[in-house]
Amino acid sequence: MEGGSHGLSEYSIGFMKRILQLGILLPVVFAGSGYDQAGAADYATISSLFENRCTRCHSAKEPDGELVLESYPRLMKGGESGKVIAPGKSDKSLLVHMIEGRKGVRAMPPGRNRSRLKPDEIKLIRDWIDAGAKPPMGGKSKLQSPNSK
Ligand code: HEC
Repeated sequence: MEGGSHGLSEYSIGFMKRILQLGILLPVVFAGSGYDQAGAADYATISSLFENRCTRCHSAKEPDGELVLESYPRLMKGGESGKVIAPGKSDKSLLVHMIEGRKGVRAMPPGRNRSRLKPDEIKLIRDWIDAGAKPPMGGKSKLQSPNSK
C-alpha cells in the first residue's frame, strides 16, 4: 500500500513539473509570436503586415500620400495629411479610418474590396495603437541607436 502511494506521489511530482515547465514555456511562445503580456501586438507584427500589404506603395522611394510605412519613425511621422496614428486612440487615427474603409477617406489598400485587410488584421493594428503605439521592442528597430554614429 505504502509503495503504491509513494509511486503515485512521484507521478504527481512529475506531473507538477510538467505543468511548471509549460507555465514557463508558454509565455516564451507568446512572446515569440509578437504579442506582449497585455495581448496587444508589438510593432514587429504590425510592420510585417505593412510589408505584406502596404509598402508596395508606401516605401521610401516615391511614397504614395508621402507616407512611408517601412519603419516606426516614418510611420509615426505620418504623410501629407500629417500624423496618421494617434497613440492610444485608434478611433482618431487616419490610418485606421482608411484601412476600415470609412466614408470620406480613401480606403487602403485602394482598389477592390477583396484586397482590404481582414477584420483580425485591422484589430491587431487597432490594439497596437490603443496600447500606445509603442516602438519596436528588443532591437528589432530600424531606428539608428544613438551609439551607431
Ligand atoms: C496600390 C497602392 C497602395 C497600397 C497597396 C496602399 N496604399 Fe495607402 N495610399 C496610396 C495612395 C495613392 C495614397 C494617397 C491617397 C490620396 O491622397 O487620396 C495613399 C495614402 C495613404 C494614407 C494617407 C497618408 C496621408 O498622410 O494623407 C494612409 C494612412 C495609407 N495610405 C495607409 C495605407 C496602409 C495602412 C496600407 C496597407 C494596408 C496602404 N496604405 C496600402 C496607395 C496605396
